[in-house]
Amino acid sequence: MSNQTNTVKSGFGSRLGFILAAAGSAVGLGNIWRFPYLAAKYGGGMFLLIYLILAVTFGFALMITEIAIGRKTGKSVIGAYSAINRHFTPLGWIAAAIPVVILPYYCVIGGWVLKYLTEFLTGGGKSTADSGEYFSAFIGSSAAPMVFFAIFIVLTAAVVMLGVEKGIEKVSKILMPVLMLLIIGIGIHTLTLPGAIDGLIYYVKPDLSEFSIKTVIAAMGQLFYSMSLAMGIMITYGSYMRKEDNIEKSVRQIEIFDTLVAFLAGLIIVPAVFVFSGGDRNALNAGPRLMFVTLPNVFDSMSGGQIVGTVFFILVALAALTSSISLMETVVSIMCERFKIKRITSCLIVIGFSFLLGMVSIFGYSIWSAFTIFKMQMLDFFDFISNTVMMPVVALMTCVLIGFVVKSKYIEDEIELNAKFKSRLLYRIMIKYICPACMIVILLSSLFISL
Ligand code: PHE
Repeated sequence: MSNQTNTVKSGFGSRLGFILAAAGSAVGLGNIWRFPYLAAKYGGGMFLLIYLILAVTFGFALMITEIAIGRKTGKSVIGAYSAINRHFTPLGWIAAAIPVVILPYYCVIGGWVLKYLTEFLTGGGKSTADSGEYFSAFIGSSAAPMVFFAIFIVLTAAVVMLGVEKGIEKVSKILMPVLMLLIIGIGIHTLTLPGAIDGLIYYVKPDLSEFSIKTVIAAMGQLFYSMSLAMGIMITYGSYMRKEDNIEKSVRQIEIFDTLVAFLAGLIIVPAVFVFSGGDRNALNAGPRLMFVTLPNVFDSMSGGQIVGTVFFILVALAALTSSISLMETVVSIMCERFKIKRITSCLIVIGFSFLLGMVSIFGYSIWSAFTIFKMQMLDFFDFISNTVMMPVVALMTCVLIGFVVKSKYIEDEIELNAKFKSRLLYRIMIKYICPACMIVILLSSLFISL
């Protein structure tokens, strides 16, 4: 497979750079906001335990597959699927459509984070703490969300324009360690709050009576989203990975990073909310409002809350930014490869259409709020169609392609280019039988739950 025709192929300059960039994609709003509330909702420690088991089996198999596909073919997602098997080109197109759908609304939420960050930074954090009116009024307007959305998308594009090594790798190498420091810092602070230990115990102690099939399904869905799987991202990043680097080891490290950040985010959020709600578990069940309503209230009632709130929103903004960079890079790399256009031009085109689609999400909460699809607001609909329908389908078909059409040896050979594939047996069983079965379960259950 020649890379000559590929106009974007520079690539990561080091293994660390690759790991931090991939971890940057994986660590996002999903870790900081979604993971803690799911953990709290589905039995704390029990959820953590199930999540960990799934991460080292199911998540591992899917991630290693995608990275190996990328590195082996050296192509972005559409080219990669068609290089493996021509009949699977349509699958590449579906996978490519996912970041196109997610990027705009992800940046809209990134904009909300920037808005809250500015409020806390300028001392206005107090005004965000109420029963939710501030948040509703903010997203219910059009102008402010639009401005912050535009800033967020331009920041994303600025990094992507600089390219893989000079932009994405460099920025990830700075932002990811900073993110880790911030999260450890706030974590320690929260645990010193009186009463935090009860929340901590609920969070980490597995209680067998909390086990249910729903917990497993929720953990599986979360894992899948959290590791940025089934949307071409890991294929794209894999295509920039150096041939001499060890894929298996890298995947383990990315997983550890992603899971650690999710765990630490829960360590901040679960005990903090526990303390300020007087031990009420339902306070954690606030869904999207957890981050924009419940937490600002928690910060408001905490001494030094303005500083903690500011640091927290910086953390979330960094996590969201490295994820949106990976989404944009995936789309840009496809455009460069397919249409042979320059990186800068593709970035500009991507900004253009993302802006339009993002506006649809913004208006969905304001001037078009009466318009819903399947009773969903536009942003929720984009989220639903990508996460609940398209991603499980892509993951399922990828397992079929690798497990049954080209056979797992296709992936194993790439992994064994420079090292022994230690988990080969586990991988074979996972990719052929267990992952496809899990994907069918996720797909059916989420469709039933959502519709
Ligand atoms: N993995 C990211 C997170 O945990 C989510 C994400 C999804 C990022 C899609 C990029 C693309 O938030």
